[in-house]
Amino acid sequence: MLGDTPARDYSRKLNLFNAFAESELRQLIAGLGLGPGMCVLDAGCGTGEALGWLLSAVGADDGTAVGVDLSAAHVDAARARTGARTTILQADLLNAGLVAGTFDLVWCINTINHLRNPLAGVDYLSTLLRPRGRIALGQSSLVPDMFFAWDSRLERLTNDAVRQYYRDRYGLAERDVNSVRSLAGLLRQAQLRNVEARTIMIERLSPLGAVDEAYLFEAIFRDTWGPRLQPYLSEDDYAQLSRLCDRRHEQYALRRPDFHFLQSFTLVVGQT
Ligand SMILES: C[S@@+](CC[C@H](N)C(=O)[O-])C[C@H]1O[C@@H](n2cnc3c(N)ncnc32)[C@H](O)[C@@H]1O
Repeated sequence: MLGDTPARDYSRKLNLFNAFAESELRQLIAGLGLGPGMCVLDAGCGTGEALGWLLSAVGADDGTAVGVDLSAAHVDAARARTGARTTILQADLLNAGLVAGTFDLVWCINTINHLRNPLAGVDYLSTLLRPRGRIALGQSSLVPDMFFAWDSRLERLTNDAVRQYYRDRYGLAERDVNSVRSLAGLLRQAQLRNVEARTIMIERLSPLGAVDEAYLFEAIFRDTWGPRLQPYLSEDDYAQLSRLCDRRHEQYALRRPDFHFLQSFTLVVGQT
C-alpha cells in the first residue's frame, strides 16, 4: 500500500517534515517517560531523525535505539545521521529478524498506514515488546490541516483533490484511506492494554522561519499539490491555488500576514 519499495526515495520530504515538526515530536517523546537503559525500536524509521531523539531519551551510553526501514535510500540517510551507536536494518519491518520480547517501546510514525495489513503489523510489533512494553503509533493530519485561514472553500476542495489523487494513484477506496484513522481501534484489536491518545496541534503563523517555509513550500505546495491536482480542481480554483503556491506571485500564501497553519499530530500508545 502507498507504493513503498526498497528502491523508493522520499528522503527530502522526510527531512523537511522532521525538521519542521522537531520540537513537537520531541515533546511527545519526552511525555513517554522513557528511562535510561531502555531499548526502543523505530519501526519505519525513515531518515532517522527520531532515532537520535529516542536515543537521547534512553541514554546514549546504556540505552539502545534500533531502526528498521524498507527503503535503501532512507536507511543510508538514517545511518549517515545517527552513527555507529545505532543499528539500522534495511528490511520489511514484518520480516527483519528482530528478536521477540526485546523492546520497551516501539515508536512507529506515519508508517502503519503504509502496510498492506496494519492490524497484522501491530500484532507483529507487539510480539517484539517486553512485558509491559509499549507501542506508540503516530499519525499526522487526522483532523484536516488549515492552510488558508482566509478561504475555507479552496482549502476543502484542495484537501478533497489530494485524497482523490491518492485514491486514484493507489487504487484505494475511501474506506481504505479512512482506516488510518482507527489507531486506537488497531491497538485494542491487537489486545493492547491502557490505550491512550494525545493529539497536539503543530501551529505556525507568519512570518515563517526558513525551516517552516521549506516544509510547507517544498513538501506541500510544490510536491503534494502542484500540477498533479489540476485534473481534480476547476480551472479557476486551480489557477487560484497556483497563485497562492507561487513564491514569485504577490499572492503567495506563505508571505501573507494572515497565514496561519494548523496540522494535528496524534500519538496513540498501548501496552502489552
Ligand atoms: C511516511 S514515512 C515515515 C518515516 C518516519 N517514521 C518519519 O516519521 O519520518 C513511512 C516509512 O515507512 C517505510 N516503510 C513502508 N513500508 C515498510 C515496511 N513494510 N517495512 C519497513 N518500512 C516500511 C518507508 O520506507 C518510509 O520510510
